[in-house]
Amino acid sequence: MSITLVAILPSPSYAQCPRPSNEPATCRPPTPPGPPVPFQGDIGSSTRVRKSAFELTSIEVDRLRQAFAALRKLSEDDPDDPRGWLQQANVHCWHCGGGGASVANVHGNYWFLPWHRAYLYFFEKILGKLVGDPDFALPYWDWDTRGRNLMPPPYVVPSAGSNSLFDAYRGVAPGRAMPASATSPQEIKRLLSLRDWASFMGGPAGPRGVPGEIEFRIHNRVHQWVTDPRGQANCGVQDMGIFSTAAQDPIFYAHHANTDRLWEVWRAMGGEQRLPTDAAFRQRTWTFYDENKRWVSISVEQVLDSAGSLHYGYSRPSPGGRTGHEHAASQPLTTEPMLAPSKSVAKAPWVAQLLTSEPQTVSAPIVVSSEIASFEAGASPLGPMVRRLHIDGVAMPPGGSTTVRVFVNLPGADERTPPSGPNYVGAFTVVPHHGSGHADATRQDVAFELSAETEQVVPSSGEIPVSLIPLAGEDMRPLGLTLAYEKVYVVTE
Ligand code: C2O
Repeated sequence: MSITLVAILPSPSYAQCPRPSNEPATCRPPTPPGPPVPFQGDIGSSTRVRKSAFELTSIEVDRLRQAFAALRKLSEDDPDDPRGWLQQANVHCWHCGGGGASVANVHGNYWFLPWHRAYLYFFEKILGKLVGDPDFALPYWDWDTRGRNLMPPPYVVPSAGSNSLFDAYRGVAPGRAMPASATSPQEIKRLLSLRDWASFMGGPAGPRGVPGEIEFRIHNRVHQWVTDPRGQANCGVQDMGIFSTAAQDPIFYAHHANTDRLWEVWRAMGGEQRLPTDAAFRQRTWTFYDENKRWVSISVEQVLDSAGSLHYGYSRPSPGGRTGHEHAASQPLTTEPMLAPSKSVAKAPWVAQLLTSEPQTVSAPIVVSSEIASFEAGASPLGPMVRRLHIDGVAMPPGGSTTVRVFVNLPGADERTPPSGPNYVGAFTVVPHHGSGHADATRQDVAFELSAETEQVVPSSGEIPVSLIPLAGEDMRPLGLTLAYEKVYVVTE
C-alpha cells in the first residue's frame, strides 16, 4: 500500500462517556481451578436443533424462560459460579476490551465468528444443564427472514421481571421493525455473495483489525438498533448498544445464533476455501467454563464443524416468506477479478477527515496493492482477487455509535437515497466496546468487497467520488455525530 499519511488523525477531543451503570468494574473470569482440560467434542449423541425464535412452541418458550431464569438465579445465589448469568455476560466483556491489552479482542477481526460460536456452545450447554435437558438449543433471531426484522415476541412480552428474556435497556418499542435497509434481501444477498473469506469473516487481528462484512454491516447494526434506534445517545448506551454489557440482554444470544447460522449458509455455498488456512487461525484456542464448571480449552479447528464436533445445527426458518439466502443461492456469482494498472497509485498526501451528521463526499483514489505483484509473480494469494473500497482509521467517541452508508459516483446522495443499485456499496455500523475506554477503542478499518454490480461503475484507475451518509439505527440523520477517519480508497487485493 503506497499511500503516505502526512496527517495523523487529529484526535478530536472526545468527552469521556460515563460507564454504563451495569458495566462491571472488572469482567475477569473466576480464577481457574488449574490448567484447562482440552475439549474432547460434545458429549451426547443427539444433535441440538436451533429454531427460529419466531417458531417456538409455547412449551419451548416456557423452557427457554426457565433456563434464563435459572441462570439469573444462579448468579444471585452464587455470584462466583462461573456459569451464572453475570459471569457469563462478563465472558463476552472480557474478550471485547475488558481484559485489557493482554486479551485479544474477538471483534474487528477473523476471531469474531469462531469465538462467538464457542461462547454460544458453552452457554447453551449450561442452560441445558440448568433445565435438565441435554437437547436444549438456543433459538435464533432470523432478522433476515421477511417480517422478522423486529424483536421476537417472547423476548419482549411480558415486559417485566417475570419474563427472564426481557431487558429494560432496549430503546426499541415492542413490535417496531428495523429499517428495511438494515437486513433487506438485497443486503443479505450482498453479504452472501462475498467471494473472499476475508471479506465475510474479517482479517487477522492487528493493531486495528479489519472486521468482516457480516460483523460491521449487519451484526453491528442490529446491536445499535436494539438500544438506540434514533441514534440520540452518543453517550450512555447500555446492553446491546455497547459490547461490554451486550451479553446482559438475552436477545444477544439469539442475535449471535443467527449470525452463526448465516456463517454456515455462506460457507455451504462455497466450500472449504471459504476458511482461512493459516495455523494462527486454526490452532488458536480459548478457554471457557463448561456446564460442569470445568475449565476447558477449545480450538478454532474444533468449532469449525458445528454438527460433528459441537453437535448442533439449525432448522430452516419456515415462515410464509422467503429468506434472503434463498435469493442469493440462485444468483450466479462473478469471480473474474479486475486488475487495475499499476501506475495508478495515488501519491497525493492525505488529510484526516471528520464526518458530522451531514452527508459528505470525498474523492477516493483507485490504487493497486503490492499483492498484485505477487499474484502476477505466481505466488498464490490468500483468496480470490477482489476489489474493495476501504475506509481506514474509523474512530468514534468512546461511547459513540453510528451507521454510515456508502455510495460511489453519487455526490448528491443523502439519507433518502435508496440503498440499492450499482452505486450503493454498503453500510457500516460502529459499536463501542467499553464505556470508559480510550478514544481509540473503536478505531478500525472497514472494507467492502465490491459487488459485481458495483464493479460496473468503478473504473480501473483514477479517482472516484465516495459519499458517506451518516445514519442513526433508523434511517435518519443522527444527532451530534463526530466520526473521524483517515482515508478512503479502492484497491485490488
Ligand atoms: Cu461480541 Cu454481537 O458481539
